[in-house]
Amino acid sequence: MQIENLMEKIVSLAKRRGFVYPGSEIYGGLANSWDYGPLGVELKNNIKKLWWDRYVHRRDDIVGLDAALIMNPKVWEASGHVATFSDPLVECEQCHERFRSDNADLLLEHVREKHPGKTNKSSDTEISGVGFGVIPGFTPPRQFNLMLKTFLGPAEEQANAAYFRPETAQGMFVDFKQVIETSRKKPPFGIAQIGKAFRNEITPGNFIFRTREFEQMEIEYFIPVPKSDADWQAYFEKWRREMLEWMDLLGLPLDKVHEVEISAEERAHYSKRTIDFEYDFPFGRKELYGLAYRTDFDLKNHEKASGTNMKYRDQETGEEYWPHVIEPTWGVDRSVLAVLAASYAEDNDPKRPLEGDRGPSRVYLKLPFRLAPYKAAVFPLLANKPDLVGKARTIYEDLRREFMVDWDDRGNIGKRYFSQDEIGTPYCITVDFDSLKNDDVTVRARDTAIQERVKVSALADFLRNQMFRDHQTETEEGID
Ligand code: GAP
Repeated sequence: MQIENLMEKIVSLAKRRGFVYPGSEIYGGLANSWDYGPLGVELKNNIKKLWWDRYVHRRDDIVGLDAALIMNPKVWEASGHVATFSDPLVECEQCHERFRSDNADLLLEHVREKHPGKTNKSSDTEISGVGFGVIPGFTPPRQFNLMLKTFLGPAEEQANAAYFRPETAQGMFVDFKQVIETSRKKPPFGIAQIGKAFRNEITPGNFIFRTREFEQMEIEYFIPVPKSDADWQAYFEKWRREMLEWMDLLGLPLDKVHEVEISAEERAHYSKRTIDFEYDFPFGRKELYGLAYRTDFDLKNHEKASGTNMKYRDQETGEEYWPHVIEPTWGVDRSVLAVLAASYAEDNDPKRPLEGDRGPSRVYLKLPFRLAPYKAAVFPLLANKPDLVGKARTIYEDLRREFMVDWDDRGNIGKRYFSQDEIGTPYCITVDFDSLKNDDVTVRARDTAIQERVKVSALADFLRNQMFRDHQTETEEGID
């Protein structure tokens, strides 16, 4: 079902319920900076944990890394980022606002909204057709480097200049030899990392979709030198399928995922093949994740620039070579946004609107069990009955040893259900007077609102089984 104004609803719910707030709000905010609140950090951590479990803990061929965020600036010269990591920037000749010139929609919108008298049919066509050339009404495009610069130490001079990393990937290349030596891995094997990356984006926007500070989950998967294209293509294909499985695991409808083959002209400087996984976000179809074949570009260049041998040496054959690299890359914040958009749901019973006489009758997040911030909420039916409160409290304390659970004894049960629905809590557990006699509770499911009685002694197993049910959608081994 199509939900109207979905983006506004997500942003409003995220702020109201503590998923994502505007950053530095008491100072008027900082454009396009966002803070993850108590529930947002749980959701984000659950996504990262799922990823780390799946790719690092449950596989023999991938190990983890947490490299420094600020690296020697020579890294970025060798990687090609200093020379080529840029976007074409243009400036509106009338109001001097700056834009990426390859985003025709944004330019058109700007001219139509801010300078309506200046637009006509032919300039629309020119704008949408031009991309990287000269655009009427805007300055000629110039390349703007996206790396965020800083200075280390007290003197702000070029010799002390450094960059916040624009991708986590380079940590895996620079530490390649140390990882090989300490982990005893041999190609094919991968190094995985989750961490912050920074880009001085010209036009950030769309909530947490494009920001200047964001998080990535990346794997550099090192393979033996391919003897033919078919060799690297086989690994590429396995990762392509794996990424689709991951999206399925997040609960994203796969008919909203579109694989886009990136042309040679548009590919990053290091890539011989790239697929973007685009997703139908509420504001349009945009890149969610990427998959690239980086060849031996990075290891080779780091060897050239650093003078350190970056080859893998096969102990048995004595053969030395630069492994080639398949790189699947995931944005954490875009994952959170896609998950929120995919899980947002409304029930529309006109007889029972939520707000006065209008609006949906119920708002809920259909989050997969493993992603939900709280796995369950425990309520005493009445807050002023010590027997009920005492029993509910014991259940709550028992469950929270293993699961993230919430406690609520305010207002009536209906309101507590709605409140938990809105933050995606899969189960509400109510202790009532029968519970005192029978040692059981009412468990109400978020998506169906169906209630069942469950013995208190069986509750932990009940929740564990939901976790297991999510696991069953995964393949046993992932890719080879
Ligand atoms: N190491 C390869 C690399 O960094 P990328 O396509 O430039 O590739 C990877 O970035 C992923 O990082 C993207 O698919 C997206 O999910 C996320 N990402 C990139 N720029 C972002 C931004 N400004 N804000 C939020 N996420 C971003």
